[in-house]
Amino acid sequence: MVKFISIQEANDKKKGNVAVRGWVYRERGSNAMKFLVLRDSSNIIQCVLERKNFEKQWGEIDKIKIESSVEIEGDIKEDKRAPTGFEIQAKKINIIQIAEDFPINKDLNEELLGDRRHLWLRSRKMTAILKVRSTVFSAIHEYFRSKGFYEYQSPIFQAVQCEGGSTLFNVDYFGKKGVFLAQTWQLYAEPAIFSLEKIYTIAPSFRAEESKTSRHLTEYWHSEMEVAWADFKDIQDYGEELIKHIVRKVLNDNKRELEILRRDIKKLEPTLKKDFPRITYDESLKILKEKCKIKVSWGKDLRTVEEDELSRLYDTPIIVTNYPKEVKAFYMKETEGNPKVVNGCDFLAPESYGEIIGGSERESDPSKIKKRLIEMKEKPEQYSFYLDTRKYGSVPHGGFGLGVERIISWICGLDTIKDAIAFPRTMTRWTP
Ligand code: 4AD
Ligand code: MG
Repeated sequence: MVKFISIQEANDKKKGNVAVRGWVYRERGSNAMKFLVLRDSSNIIQCVLERKNFEKQWGEIDKIKIESSVEIEGDIKEDKRAPTGFEIQAKKINIIQIAEDFPINKDLNEELLGDRRHLWLRSRKMTAILKVRSTVFSAIHEYFRSKGFYEYQSPIFQAVQCEGGSTLFNVDYFGKKGVFLAQTWQLYAEPAIFSLEKIYTIAPSFRAEESKTSRHLTEYWHSEMEVAWADFKDIQDYGEELIKHIVRKVLNDNKRELEILRRDIKKLEPTLKKDFPRITYDESLKILKEKCKIKVSWGKDLRTVEEDELSRLYDTPIIVTNYPKEVKAFYMKETEGNPKVVNGCDFLAPESYGEIIGGSERESDPSKIKKRLIEMKEKPEQYSFYLDTRKYGSVPHGGFGLGVERIISWICGLDTIKDAIAFPRTMTRWTP
């Protein structure tokens, strides 16, 4: 065989001799001919094998089933009937392995597909999503690095909670109690801004969510940032810019994948062009009442239904700010002049994809933090390392966390967040 090129490169070459390799995506044949549609990571291509050219190998060729791995060399030429408009007239075939009957077909339900997840990853749908996912990761790195952020890592084994005790995963740490998997990097990130000032990460976070929704994973990838000398508006500006950058890069690099996923990209375009509406919690209650006929009493957190109704009124993400203190985490800064609310914000994606970013300006007064920890029945002594950050050169600062699978779900228009990650982990799924 001559030098292998990707199937996409073969399609682009349009004519001449090519060698490609991959897996059989579709297969049909007769006594005289075999049609193989071959796929690799780049695309698919139809290949035709005529028996008269392969008399010696025909017995083996006849046995080729889908997902068999093969190498093929031949002449590529235009053929309007072929799936990509081109076809390879095979001159040589090298069969690497003849696959057993592939245990995936159109009729499998979600549960059975979940059991065969390791094989389902090869589907065109999953391949397209995983490519978008790869773009999203690179866009995040690109954005933060271009803004002068350092990449920084925090521990996954942690001895404190940050986002509420009810979703902590306990770890059996050599028989010791009080060790949990990270819900967030935040409490271990804030100490580092006194060293690096602007930091970010992409790391797994763990939440023992007892909910079986289309938005919750127990293990998800979390891109978080923390900045010194930043106020509440700065945090929102960074979040908005980051989302715009991610969407722009995916629209630029993954047109084909979005097509395969049948995503209507018109729904993503306003995000690039418009400012994200920023509305306070109080305003959101008013809008919900007037436009959606939903009454939320002041002080209650917005539930999924309310977030969805609200986000449906806009074609870009919206930023809801200044929530009541009681519904938000202990570390959020009281709003100046209105101590009932905090400088915290949630970014809600359009089309009912829910909260994609949660962030805040951080409380600088250690006595206020302590008071709230006690109200939550936490032991402030365990947070002494965190409270120290407010004692030695405290500065205004803040940060946020972006749910990577949440933004992928929205960008790709997925029915469930489970498809935004290769091997989803939920309350009911931890295998394969
Ligand atoms: O709003 P959350 O809980 O905020 C924090 O963890 C902060 N400590 C972040 C920070 O300021 N550094 O989580 C942040 C984001 C949410 O907006 C959501 O997108 C995502 O993480 N998220 C989940 N994604 C998938 N499955 C889950 N169970 C998630 N829980 C939160
Ligand atoms: Mg949140």
